[in-house]
Amino acid sequence: MKDSTQAISLERRHELSAFIHERFGLFFPADRHQDLLRAVEHACDEAGFDDAETYVNWVLSGSHSDDALEALVTSLTIGETYFFRDPALFSALREVVMPQCFRHNHDRKRIRLWSAGCSTGEEPYSIAMLLDYYGLLKRDWHIEVVATDVNVKSLSRARKGIYSRWSFRGMDADLQRRYFTAVDDHHWQLNEAVRRRIQFSYLNLAAPPFRIGEDSAVGCDVILCRNVLMYFSRELREQILNELSRMLVDGGWLVVSPSEAGLVRVEGLRAVNIGGMVLHQKGHIPVASKPVAAPRQIPRSMPLTKKIPMPKKVPVKQVRGKTVAASPPEPPGQPRLETLAEQVEAGEYKMAMRDLQVLTSEGMLERRHRAQALLLTAKCHANIGDPEQALICLDEALSLDQMNPASHYLHGVVLMERQENDLARQSLEKALYLDENYVMAQLTLAMLLGQCGDTEQQNKALARTRILLGRLADDVLIPDSGGMTTAHLRAALKN
Ligand SMILES: C[S@@+](CC[C@H](N)C(=O)[O-])C[C@H]1O[C@@H](n2cnc3c(N)ncnc32)[C@H](O)[C@@H]1O
Repeated sequence: MKDSTQAISLERRHELSAFIHERFGLFFPADRHQDLLRAVEHACDEAGFDDAETYVNWVLSGSHSDDALEALVTSLTIGETYFFRDPALFSALREVVMPQCFRHNHDRKRIRLWSAGCSTGEEPYSIAMLLDYYGLLKRDWHIEVVATDVNVKSLSRARKGIYSRWSFRGMDADLQRRYFTAVDDHHWQLNEAVRRRIQFSYLNLAAPPFRIGEDSAVGCDVILCRNVLMYFSRELREQILNELSRMLVDGGWLVVSPSEAGLVRVEGLRAVNIGGMVLHQKGHIPVASKPVAAPRQIPRSMPLTKKIPMPKKVPVKQVRGKTVAASPPEPPGQPRLETLAEQVEAGEYKMAMRDLQVLTSEGMLERRHRAQALLLTAKCHANIGDPEQALICLDEALSLDQMNPASHYLHGVVLMERQENDLARQSLEKALYLDENYVMAQLTLAMLLGQCGDTEQQNKALARTRILLGRLADDVLIPDSGGMTTAHLRAALKN
């Protein structure tokens, strides 16, 4: 098909962009005009117009209803999504958020969750499966899951609940067998009992105030608005975030994607780190530091999602007891990460932080090196007694490189200091999953287990630490031990 969008003048493109922003809040500045034109071309075809220019003239000619503009909105908002996207979020929901919701709502026995910008339904259905799998759909409770989107085609596909292989790329195969029935060789339909749990409806986030669910006066306990904020301009994003915050009950949670967490700056919402995910909670209810009692015994692991594949081995070298991935040369004039690692090791935190701040500013380093620089910054913060800031840096480091065991280890140590034992254990286990020979992760896990009173598991972890030490020469410096050698640690463990 010939591309008829080239005939649309620059002025008309700007007018169309302004109209779409005004009407649907979708943000297509000049550098996204190609995306805009691609959508126009598609919509023009769908709506039965002969050429794109005529179609744009028609769009801009009067006050058409949302229904009439459906083809355009649909083409502009094709939403990429899949089941159990961001597994750590679903662990956080299961282990901290939902148990807290059950406690807060004990009297009224009602919980409302809202997936705003749900696309083809994978997100709200993942929640429904999570609730069902872990027995959180208690009979005497009213648990409402509302899902909305501006794209009516996506909503219609969501209601059908039929998905191709691509939607299952983050999901455990056993779970797929449990909840889905094959329709043909390439498609599977979600069982009706789970589909029935979700109420799908149209809602344009660019037009606050919002009304959702059976009774719009009821506040939301959890709002997921993930990978949606990027569609909006800064002003609109702020309006939307304020409105979402207003709709939360006190103690309710706003969930955005890891890459959007930094955009949430709303008074009354505070960032809470749960197992590496930053969620935002309304009000000032502290996150329980002890494991929160869930309605039913739940396994520790998260079998709903696929296991993280083992990382390819990155060549490592020891820098005065620290593990630093061997790195290609960095641009001249910049302090090398290895030098900074040595400075951090030597306790020169303030000096190292100055250089690290420059290095970690946008665009200076490629992804993996940036993650390493953030890890070093986190070490500085942790060592000068600023665990909050350390966790923020670690979140960013882990979002860039979740395969670095050293970041998970430090995450575990900081969480342990904050008495968030359950989450600390998860982080230490992740570090060991990624590097089974990580002596300090094994030893710290043993200390944590002892702190939690689990003597049997502590002894096993200590035995594993001794085995690891047994494989090393006496004079090897143990990474992350503050300069101890194998011999020192062996002696310390004997006492
Ligand atoms: C990338 S998908 C995200 C899907 C899901 N939340 C996830 O993270 O996997 C973005 C969704 O936002 C929706 N969206 C974009 N603009 C919107 C608006 N103004 N109101 C409501 N939804 C909107 C799109 O239609 C699309 O389905």
